[in-house]
Amino acid sequence: MSDDDDIDAALESRLTEQEYFRPSPDFVGQANCTDSDIYDRYEENYPEAFAEYAELLDWDERWDQVLDDSNPPFYGWFTGGKLNASANCIDRHLDERKNQTALLWEGEDGTQRNITYQDLYREVNQMAAALKDAGVEEDDVVTLHLPMVPALPITMLACARIGAPHSEVFAGFSAQALADRVDDADSDVVVTVDGYYRRGDFLNHKQKADEALDLADKDVDKLLVWERHDGELHEDVGLQDGRDLLVSELMADNERATVEPVSRDAEDPLFLMYTSGTTGKPKGCQHRTGGYLSYATATSKYVLDIEPEDTYWCAADIGWITGHSYIVYGPLALGTTSVMYEGAPDHPHKGRIWEIAEKYDVDVFHTSPTAVRMFMKWGEQYPQDYDFDFRHMTTVGEPIQPEAWLWYYKYIGDEDAVIVDTWWQTETGGHLITNLPALKDMKPGSAGYPCPGIEPAILDDNGEPLEEAAGRAGNLVIEKPWPGMLQTVYGDDERFIDEYWRDFSDTDSDDMADWVYKAGDGAVHERDGYFRILGRLDDVMNVAGHRLGTMELESAVSEVEDVAEAAVVSREHDEKGEVPDVYVILREGVEPSEEVRQRIVTAVEEEIGKFARPNAIAFVDDLPKTRSGKIMRRLLENISNDEDLGDTTTLRDPSVPERIRDQVQDD
Ligand code: WT7
Repeated sequence: MSDDDDIDAALESRLTEQEYFRPSPDFVGQANCTDSDIYDRYEENYPEAFAEYAELLDWDERWDQVLDDSNPPFYGWFTGGKLNASANCIDRHLDERKNQTALLWEGEDGTQRNITYQDLYREVNQMAAALKDAGVEEDDVVTLHLPMVPALPITMLACARIGAPHSEVFAGFSAQALADRVDDADSDVVVTVDGYYRRGDFLNHKQKADEALDLADKDVDKLLVWERHDGELHEDVGLQDGRDLLVSELMADNERATVEPVSRDAEDPLFLMYTSGTTGKPKGCQHRTGGYLSYATATSKYVLDIEPEDTYWCAADIGWITGHSYIVYGPLALGTTSVMYEGAPDHPHKGRIWEIAEKYDVDVFHTSPTAVRMFMKWGEQYPQDYDFDFRHMTTVGEPIQPEAWLWYYKYIGDEDAVIVDTWWQTETGGHLITNLPALKDMKPGSAGYPCPGIEPAILDDNGEPLEEAAGRAGNLVIEKPWPGMLQTVYGDDERFIDEYWRDFSDTDSDDMADWVYKAGDGAVHERDGYFRILGRLDDVMNVAGHRLGTMELESAVSEVEDVAEAAVVSREHDEKGEVPDVYVILREGVEPSEEVRQRIVTAVEEEIGKFARPNAIAFVDDLPKTRSGKIMRRLLENISNDEDLGDTTTLRDPSVPERIRDQVQDD
């Protein structure tokens, strides 16, 4: 038998083992998209069909052109059109549903806020006026460092209202990480909150912004400070004269203010979202107003199947793209009720998530495979203690193992809720590969079909396309632009081309057909046309659904004076998917010790954040290097994951990996 036959046989058996699950007739009967022609329609009528997505929004001026492809890869979407994102998420709902809850917020300490569309209108207007008082003008980038409190969506929408792109930095990022992003975005105004709750502690959060503004090269003019408890500042928080302003005071000055939403060009940026790449410096993915909002709204409607009447809960953090698209922009543009939870899923008990689902009678639920694996480990007694009934559930961020999928389906979905496994990225703005739930059967472990109008392909390393649906693994690329895609890397068009296009495009061409977007993931296009995502192929890892760059971690570790050289690789982890392992050569004269280990951990926490903490740190004498001195991380990855080393003959010293393996096993 040839190798190919072997692979075929293995695939055949896997395919027959993997069952399909059909959505229930009840689900199909009420679904937002039951038009089985939609895939063909979008393919045949590309890109014009995307106008339907834009039509879900209210425009001040209609677009002239759906796609401007005159200067690839700098595409324009709905060019000539004008709109405001905040007006689309708030104002346009006031006639019909001003007393409906827009944001249903549950504090970790049990406080609850029902923010109606009318309330949201008031607060966003006041905050927009406050931002203007603080000197923010249209097109200024405002950096936010806010946790899961109502202040976060309110500030985002207030920025959008005045046409100031926001750049939210996940609250778990360290002061240094915040400082780097403030500098890169060149923000004159930063917004934070005094504190928030995490596992029962009221954390002093403003402290990080204070440190960040000291660390930043830039002189930030104003730091706006929200209070987690109305009119009551965290006891350890001080305000710096002249720089710090309390949002409550600015808002009180603007109690009845209304701020006209600025009519933005479809192509004007709505926000930046920094994400890790293959180099040390995080990149600011710049998202446009019209294309992004159209895409987030349409995918919320058709993939998440949200209705305005639903109570929808995406249990992610707004500090990442998932929360931007699928807690704030998509759901609010559709006029639904979006739930936000401040705290830890196991505080004060492991039933907290299900308690909230029961309390608010959540219809549509959204979480990550890491969370599912955690719930699974805690046991099914927790969800079984509560009375909730989901119609639809989502997973996002990592591949989900069929075992975890089946558990989610059975114990959380009661074998009745439909599940969509959504593949996308910070850069893509919204889902690219996932099933339209009423049209395609579910298959555990497969993201499924491309979304309408999305054209993925699998290429080999030379850029040659693999046969369609051949069941072979390769580089996942997207062959045609889509409305939700990033516009560029903020301030760095060259990097935008290098990171996403150069490898598989003819960069001299001005024909869109020669430009191919590289996702950085490996994937298989299966025989049944479903895509299975294998994970990152570049030096980027996925820790509990958080993207981390190997280089970023290595540069943090190298900050420690004792360290001569460092390499970071990913180790597979039952719960978190992947975790970072650090291999370190210490400087002459430095002995391995608990203190050195601690210094390395602290450096990572300070440079990036606690969520990036190394799993293991190995002190080694040498690293596996090629003759030209390049570290071969793949071999370290084999060691971390207890795998065979394969070919080591290209190494300068082929004995190094075995030596490291012996050393690590002795530790
Ligand atoms: C990377 C993007 C998209 C929002 C959350 C993460 C991985 C994402 C899936 C999925 C397998 C997935 C990919 C991707 N990923 N969704 N359904 N199945 N892998 O956004 O931080 O930009 O990370 O997450 O590796 O490239 P992100």
